[in-house]
Amino acid sequence: MNQLPKPEAEALAVSRALSRALTQRIEHAGGWIGFDAFMGAALYEPGFGYYTGNSRKFGRGGDFVTAPELSPLFGACVAAQCAQWLEVVPGGVLEFGAGTGMLAAHMLNELARLGIDDVAYRIVELSAPLRAVQRHTIETLAGHALPRVRWLDELPARIDGVVIANEVLDAIPVRRFVHDGTQVFERGVACRAGAPDAADDPFAPAFGWADRPADPDFDAAVRAALERSGWPDDERFVPYESELGEQACAWVETIGARMGRGALLLFDYGFPAREFYHPQRSAGTLACHYRHRVHFDPFLVPGLQDVTSHVDFSAIAAGAARVGLAPLGYTSQANFLLNAGLLDRLAQVPTDESLAYARQSQAVQVLVSEAEMGELFKVIAFGREVADDALGFSRGDRYDALA
Ligand SMILES: C[S@@+](CC[C@H](N)C(=O)[O-])C[C@H]1O[C@@H](n2cnc3c(N)ncnc32)[C@H](O)[C@@H]1O
Repeated sequence: MNQLPKPEAEALAVSRALSRALTQRIEHAGGWIGFDAFMGAALYEPGFGYYTGNSRKFGRGGDFVTAPELSPLFGACVAAQCAQWLEVVPGGVLEFGAGTGMLAAHMLNELARLGIDDVAYRIVELSAPLRAVQRHTIETLAGHALPRVRWLDELPARIDGVVIANEVLDAIPVRRFVHDGTQVFERGVACRAGAPDAADDPFAPAFGWADRPADPDFDAAVRAALERSGWPDDERFVPYESELGEQACAWVETIGARMGRGALLLFDYGFPAREFYHPQRSAGTLACHYRHRVHFDPFLVPGLQDVTSHVDFSAIAAGAARVGLAPLGYTSQANFLLNAGLLDRLAQVPTDESLAYARQSQAVQVLVSEAEMGELFKVIAFGREVADDALGFSRGDRYDALA
């Protein structure tokens, strides 16, 4: 991995401290932990995890760019959808995992432009450093709305209004499995020989994959997920490796169970089960982002790189149904944004400001192009006591593909 840029000494020291803590945890657990525990620590270990540490993550100087970072037109379209719901549902907006606060700022500006300038905007963010960044962004770009923004330390017992999350599901830890055609193994994490501090190479991994036979519950969950995909066992490439996003489903169920009246709107990359567990997708969907490079080794520099998995939207839909949420739509990001008026909004960018216009039209291209974010990224919504006429799903709803 010597083509990856080397981390700064300070960042490397943080990563090595996290590796030492993880090593102790693995030894304490008898030499093995599930990949969900590893991913949880790599992303969220207080002070050391990727999201909970101080590294720059978003934007050109970070590791990846998300839709709200690309253009304010994304947030304007999300606001248009939320405005439709907020007209009939009181309770305001609750955003999970608000990143740099860009989506919140753009939404608050657009909602105000639409005449909704009294709405409460609450944020649930696991990362303390990101909360500070979010406050700064909102103060700078949408200062008029800052008094209405609140950061919550825990989930409200009852949630009314609109809940939104962009690229949060993919950041929720997953468990990994390998199916050898007969048996299911859980693919977890063990220590590799040699202490990380002793290595000259900053990318020398201290951890590696270790398989053990799946316990009966995990075995049953994996087999059920593969069966739901609809592919016959004998067509599946073996060994077949993939992920199970049980925690993401549990997260949707928790929010759904607490939802009084309102809508849940989620954006992320992923597929229906039939594509997620396609027989040829035999390496799963786990991916790592480090300084705008994508690679597949989650054990490099723990805490300094993003680790993500795609979303099985069929599983998410099934979780929502279990807690009685009604489906409101599922479509590609391109369809959703176009339905919500993306092109009209682009047309409002003054063409005489040619640089600004060029930047926005390029961003629109990235947001909707099939080769970029338009098709891989999906939008899904559920509701309780909300009409099934959401603007963003008016054309191209594919909810049936999730069955
Ligand atoms: C890939 S970033 C996306 C950030 C932002 N939404 C954006 O689009 O730029 C994932 C975010 O989800 C947050 N996150 C993950 N799990 C969460 C949870 N259970 N509750 C709240 N935030 C969560 C992370 O802390 C991080 O801010």
